[in-house]
Amino acid sequence: MRGAGEQSVAGCVVPRMIRLPGSSTGNFGSMPLPTWTIDSWKAKPAAQQPTYDDAAELEKVLQALGQLPPLVTSWEVDRLRDQLAQAQAGEAWLLQGGDCAESFADCQADSIASKLKVLLQMSLVLIFGSGQKIVRLGRIAGQYAKPRSQNTESQSGQTLPSYRGDLINQAPFSLAHRRNDPQLLLRGYERSALTLNFIRALSEGGFADLHHPENWDLDFVAESPEYERYHRLVDALGSALRFVDAISENPMPELRRVDFFTSHEALHLPYEAALTRESVRGTGWYNLGTHLPWIGERTRAISGAHVELLRGVRNPIGIKVGPAADAQEIADLVQLVNPENEPGRITLIHRLGHDRVEQLLSQLIEVVRARGLKVLWVCDPMHGNTVAASSGHKTRKFEDVLGELQAAFTVHRGCESRLGGVHLELTGENVTECLGGSRGLTESDLATAYNTNCDPRLNYEQAMEIAFSIADEISAA
Ligand code: PEP
Ligand code: CO
Repeated sequence: MRGAGEQSVAGCVVPRMIRLPGSSTGNFGSMPLPTWTIDSWKAKPAAQQPTYDDAAELEKVLQALGQLPPLVTSWEVDRLRDQLAQAQAGEAWLLQGGDCAESFADCQADSIASKLKVLLQMSLVLIFGSGQKIVRLGRIAGQYAKPRSQNTESQSGQTLPSYRGDLINQAPFSLAHRRNDPQLLLRGYERSALTLNFIRALSEGGFADLHHPENWDLDFVAESPEYERYHRLVDALGSALRFVDAISENPMPELRRVDFFTSHEALHLPYEAALTRESVRGTGWYNLGTHLPWIGERTRAISGAHVELLRGVRNPIGIKVGPAADAQEIADLVQLVNPENEPGRITLIHRLGHDRVEQLLSQLIEVVRARGLKVLWVCDPMHGNTVAASSGHKTRKFEDVLGELQAAFTVHRGCESRLGGVHLELTGENVTECLGGSRGLTESDLATAYNTNCDPRLNYEQAMEIAFSIADEISAA
């Protein structure tokens, strides 16, 4: 990948010429940015938006959404941004995970609790391994809209609009199900609120108490090797907690509750804008539909509407970076969305693929570093590693997922950078969607429990194996 204008420093490719967007002076914010308003995104091209057959109905729904209370508060959003700034400074680590696409039907106690359980178990493994604070961030309570590579899908000679997630239309292959229905925006808001309400209650109450990690056990995993390994760790934790309780005069509330934040892809712009509100305490505009909205690989055009809407909010923002990305363009984008270079504001989530990460990542790191941009680096080892099984199932090989993650650690270390988090598609359920892992799932196992609405997720054992491996990587650093 090295071109004529580049040199190699400590194994990393460094560009000689640094281009600043629209500026020749090299200073941050030297060019005044165009004014942002809550409507300025409407003048920009918007990718991946559904079209509705009843504009008046859509407008009515958006009016209603705009009157409903926010799902999160600006104080919580600020707290997450501060924690991501800590992760960027090397004092914490981000664990982001959940379904590829949540479904309305899965808005059930067991399904939500299982996702929380696996993320809490993983975070415990990571705390033990890294000795660091772990920031827990679900792909949850609003991950209902999906970008699609094709607008239509054909089956047995019939062509229908693609399924774009439960916020927009329904998965079954019929004309009625595939109609883009504005009412689903309200159903999605409600399901997000119900999910968040349950998450908040679980995070604050007895469920999250570190003294009772048995609350996080999942019924079906008793004899797996990861569970054994996890249980040895929980036993050690029990002894440590008894010691702390014995010597401390006052109970420590932080051992009895957890912080748990939400995130989703901010894809459906009218929905996201309806939940974007100006804070009553004068701290600016916030997307109050989630703590961390992210911009997907397909919608991160620098002059596009998604970037325009999100550059105006105070939330921490995730940006996905795929293998086709131009490093200079990504740096331009980071500067546009974070002109003050505020720590914690930008999380760059690279998803380059196990076979390309070594070739592409160092240049991205060096371009971002050369411009002095403060970002949190996170690896998504899922989206660059999707393949089709011979049965037709979309799947991922566990070894590829783990391989990309381990390579990402190595490249960051080689560039004297720091991988500060991971972004995973996983579930607490006993699914068979990704191949391999300690049970060696094969293509013939895929049909047994292939339940995903969209991309294949790691099951409990595969997710825990990843957590142990990350713990090893962090403690080796
Ligand atoms: C996703 O996270 O589900 C997704 C679609 O990712 P990307 O934008 O990286 O392809
Ligand atoms: Co996905």
